[in-house]
Amino acid sequence: MSLDAVLARLDAELPQSLDRLFALLRLKSISADPAFAADVRKAGEHCVALLAEMGFEASLRETPLHPIVVAHWTGPVENPDKHVLFYGHYDVQPVDPLNLWHADPFDPRLEERDGVKVIAARGAADDKGQIMVFLEAMRALLAEEGRLPVKVTVFLEGEEESGSPSLEPFLAANAKELSCDVALVCDTDMWARGRPAITTSLRGLVGEEVTISCADRDLHSGSFGGPAWNPIRLLAKILASLHDDTGRVTLPGFYDGVEETPADVRASWDALGRDAESFLGPVGLKTPAGETGRSILEQIWARPTCEFNGVSGGYAGDGFKTVLPAKAMAKVSFRLVGKQDPAKIRESFRARVRSMLPPDAEVAFHPHGGSPGFSMPFDSPWLAGARDALTEEWGVPSLLIGAGGSIPVGNAFAHHLSMPTLFVGFGLSDDRIHSPNEKYDLESFAKGARSWARILKKLA
Ligand code: BES
Ligand code: ZN
Repeated sequence: MSLDAVLARLDAELPQSLDRLFALLRLKSISADPAFAADVRKAGEHCVALLAEMGFEASLRETPLHPIVVAHWTGPVENPDKHVLFYGHYDVQPVDPLNLWHADPFDPRLEERDGVKVIAARGAADDKGQIMVFLEAMRALLAEEGRLPVKVTVFLEGEEESGSPSLEPFLAANAKELSCDVALVCDTDMWARGRPAITTSLRGLVGEEVTISCADRDLHSGSFGGPAWNPIRLLAKILASLHDDTGRVTLPGFYDGVEETPADVRASWDALGRDAESFLGPVGLKTPAGETGRSILEQIWARPTCEFNGVSGGYAGDGFKTVLPAKAMAKVSFRLVGKQDPAKIRESFRARVRSMLPPDAEVAFHPHGGSPGFSMPFDSPWLAGARDALTEEWGVPSLLIGAGGSIPVGNAFAHHLSMPTLFVGFGLSDDRIHSPNEKYDLESFAKGARSWARILKKLA
């Protein structure tokens, strides 16, 4: 059977596939840091070259920030009535704190960690490795069959880790060119090592940066402390007001649009056996901090949160400085579920901050993206074939899971292109994405490519 030949080719050419992945991993495409803008572009150009070499009509398309890669397969196709759009992001998260990395984040290498072979580098799992499993699957299909199973358009953005500011305008402006039957996204996790899964829900995200300013300069905390307002004190009080003692968020209207998870779904999640010990243990924790009375999976998959991602102000360097700072800043994010409205939540947060400030304090807000939660209905026709393909590849039934993270494209594709999105990924919860020493299991890479080859054949 020709699928067997494709799979055998993927196995035989794993070293070359890894070389191609490593070349992409060497490019420092950190989208959040303007200092790396040229490197982001280089990574986009690199993807265009890879796709063009495979025979795609590939181009780099400008946006106000980082360019988008669009590539169309115009060669022979087994079933030309089906057209899929593959989405991935070629940008990566910043690498700090750099001193915690065991090796250069942009010098990819194969390592063994706890007896498991892994690909170590920034972006190995999020998302360059997961882009390459799809491209390698297509490369093997083309080499073996001389055609693709279905029509394919590839869409790779360079701003995902920065909230995708150019995504929606680009989709709106290019809706006709990009509309396909379904979007395939490879940027999510499996349930566990060896256990494949399709992600049918992801949380949304609202990012806010808030800066509070009081005096017009830093002051001596002895000479002025007392009469002069301290912005860190104000900020701390505001941040502390956002959760109650049961872990619920206290903003008015925050839970509007959040539905309770049906009892049977909760029971099926409980049956997966992810308790606090098994979930928190691997990251050095023991006791859950979230909403009282909600299981770990419910908290991650079905409940909204408010988190503080960074705080700064005053003197935090070595030694001690008795300063009363002029400014204090916090980066705050909200994960959203169900029909929670990002704009309303942002407004509710801003209103809370303003309501807690004295006349002498000024506040500035800076938005960092906003997208609602995503969910795919369990009876979507796109699920069955992909589930079967995954089950065949991994030899165990694939699961339908949720994700706590956010990938704004699902809703953007639905809204601008009326296109459903299927999230299939091969990441693992110990991949350390966004952290030092990110990795992607070698098995995820090898079997991920084999899985996509099977899925594409099933789609045909
Ligand atoms: N790949 C992740 C999202 C993810 C992580 C999905 C784990 C499933 C499991 C994605 O690249 C990401 O990190 N997204 C950001 C989005 C934000 C910057 C707008 C996130 O979730 O923080
Ligand atoms: Zn990420």
